[in-house]
Amino acid sequence: MPNNQPQRLCAIGIECSPPQGKAVRTLGEGIKLPVINGLGRTDRVDKWWAQPLAMGFALTFALIYTFWRLFLHDTGISYDLDGSTVMSPIFSPNILEWDLFGLSAWEHPHWVNAAILVLWIPFGFRGTCYYMRRVYYRTFFASPTACWVDEPDINKKLGYKGEKRVFILNNLHRYFLYAAMIIIAIKWWDVTHTLTFEDGQYGFSIGTFIMAIEAFLLTMYVTSCHALRHLAGGALDRWTTGISRIRGRIFDKLSIANRSHGFWFWTSLAFVFVGDLWVLAYNEGYFTGLAEWNLILF
Ligand code: FES
Repeated sequence: MPNNQPQRLCAIGIECSPPQGKAVRTLGEGIKLPVINGLGRTDRVDKWWAQPLAMGFALTFALIYTFWRLFLHDTGISYDLDGSTVMSPIFSPNILEWDLFGLSAWEHPHWVNAAILVLWIPFGFRGTCYYMRRVYYRTFFASPTACWVDEPDINKKLGYKGEKRVFILNNLHRYFLYAAMIIIAIKWWDVTHTLTFEDGQYGFSIGTFIMAIEAFLLTMYVTSCHALRHLAGGALDRWTTGISRIRGRIFDKLSIANRSHGFWFWTSLAFVFVGDLWVLAYNEGYFTGLAEWNLILF
């Protein structure tokens, strides 16, 4: 590649179209960062802002919608179909309906709902996720917004201090992982509630598919978790004999899912809202014909 011409820069894994007659410098040619100073300034010529912008919108929508459902509109959280129950993913598990310690009806303030009591687990799990950290560092803190894009001066003044102060809570991720595993088991249990109809009959409805897809995507999101991979075999020095060899194999399998961790993050998050909107729509009188369709198998 000729290097005696003015050069444009490309980020890792991104193909840039250099302006006519200009060469492209590749990674590892001793570039000093930051290339250009100032928030959002860069030599990149691709649409580096598109992905962080889309992610920022998606996360903001998720936060606003969840707030609305939790505190302003917490009705229509499930529906009954000939004895089967389809539950909104946001309000599952509905622990207020559980028969815990012989207390079938919990005494609780009227503003308390199942999501308020349980959502701290998926919230904590997603909030401390390694992938999620990358997303919110980029979208909300511009730290930096993208590779080779300069960050605000305030970031430089404060300096990156690592996982200190409030960010030390990120270290709780592995514990949220354990709790998330329990939530997954309950999600699949909720799927079984969509399969059992009156008079001991078994079948399925559209709600079964919606809840099963949501449970599957969440299972894949947890299965592809970096902390789970570490738990399985990452903590070992070698996988040579006995149990360590088995753990090494599990590590390899989890690594395959781990490569698409971002995909599982977004699809599982999206389906939480798809599932909730489906249940809410039915309760508001929409898609009733479709929602009430069911097939009894035996
Ligand atoms: Fe993303 Fe664990 S690293 S869920």
